Amino acid sequence: MTATASAPAPQSAAGIEHASRDEIGALQLDRLKWSLQHAYDNVPHYRQAFDDKGVHPADLKELKDLALFPFTAKADLRNNYPFGMFAVPQDRISRLHASSGTTGRPTVVGYTAGDLDNWADLVARSLRAAGVKPSDKVHVAYGYGLFTGGLGAHYGAERLGCTVIPMSGGMTERQIQLIEDFKPDAIMVTPSYMLTIVDAMIAKGLDPAKTSLRTGVFGAEPWTEQMRRELEQTLDMDAVDIYGLSEVMGPGVAQECVETKDGLHIWEDHFYPEVIDPMTGEVLPDGEEGELVFTSLTKEAMPIIRYRTRDLTRLLPGTARTMRRMQKVTGRTDDMIILRGVNLFPTQIEELILTQPALAPQFQCVLDRPGRMDTLTVRVEPRLEVSSDEHTAATANLQKLIKDRIGVSVEVMIAEPGTLQRSTGKAKRLVDNRPKA
Ligand code: DLL
Repeated sequence: MTATASAPAPQSAAGIEHASRDEIGALQLDRLKWSLQHAYDNVPHYRQAFDDKGVHPADLKELKDLALFPFTAKADLRNNYPFGMFAVPQDRISRLHASSGTTGRPTVVGYTAGDLDNWADLVARSLRAAGVKPSDKVHVAYGYGLFTGGLGAHYGAERLGCTVIPMSGGMTERQIQLIEDFKPDAIMVTPSYMLTIVDAMIAKGLDPAKTSLRTGVFGAEPWTEQMRRELEQTLDMDAVDIYGLSEVMGPGVAQECVETKDGLHIWEDHFYPEVIDPMTGEVLPDGEEGELVFTSLTKEAMPIIRYRTRDLTRLLPGTARTMRRMQKVTGRTDDMIILRGVNLFPTQIEELILTQPALAPQFQCVLDRPGRMDTLTVRVEPRLEVSSDEHTAATANLQKLIKDRIGVSVEVMIAEPGTLQRSTGKAKRLVDNRPKA
């Protein structure tokens, strides 16, 4: 392996969140050159992929030249299982994480001590942007273990100077007890598990608006503006979005600022974003929706070049920070439902459910193929406090709204309260009962 020095440092680390676009661009270019060379020199997969495409790291003269380089997909990580994508010898790897891998091999990611240090800094930066203060108590209910959520959140909160409560996911009764007794200021959890905790609080006769929690840092799955309103009202808190993925780092790749709540600032000094047309691979101009692609700029253990996230979003100019924003993720290309020729995402259903005061945010989209045509049934729980007449009216309204706004006819079924599977991590909104091709 070639010993490559670590990525170039910015001129002023403290001011980078407000640096000029020129300064950010210059830093990105320096770092991108380093990252491409580091990948090419030390990871046989990248050397082969670059050579096959006839490109060399030296061909990158300006940022837009990145489009010359090949994409990396999840399959490339799987094919190089477990450690083939690493760019440093094993004795420099301080930690491993892995994705659950619902089918086949998990994807494995590795970090040097320097990578872990950057990660903690970026989660600390994210928490600060979320409005969390060094003196705050932070309850971490993202799962600890191979999933990046728990440990990523944990070290970032410690780095900021917070008191961390490493609760992990699950054991809902215990979550409630610790929230009641330890009085945390902030919680880091998936929005769907927050809803599960809220339901359990209400069942115990507790008022979720009366907890000590002031800030929720919600991520790891898509959630909508309507869900933000629901969580903020129910919990009397600020609800902000945190984004990340293990292949790129983990939580803290992008973060919404509490003062604007207008999408997530990508920490562009460490990750270079592109949005592409998922069909053609062509880079789209800022503002257009497509698939998000990331190139790491500083990662030592596992540089990642043009990684196709499958997440759909658009790039927007900076507001509270100079770094560009990504709009809240609409969904993953894998979760897109194609129903009789119409594309839709569970987030669109979530938005419409939450316009109906009689319906609860607990829902599932069930796909079936009873004959030759696919059908979609939206199973949704009612709010406990409303009458069955109101449920019936809300069901009809929702069906009509889905037809009018999305353009497909679906079945809407009211599920008994508490019967839809509750999430303790990432919610499973889509159930596909269609026969496998
Ligand atoms: O979910 C990392 C994470 C943990 C992010 C905790 C935020 C908070 P993975 O398990 O590798 O990593 O899953 C990554 O989750 O490609 C998105 O599809 C989805 N995702 C993550 N954050 C968001 C978000 C973690 N804020 C995949 N909004 C990503 C929408 C998200 N989707």
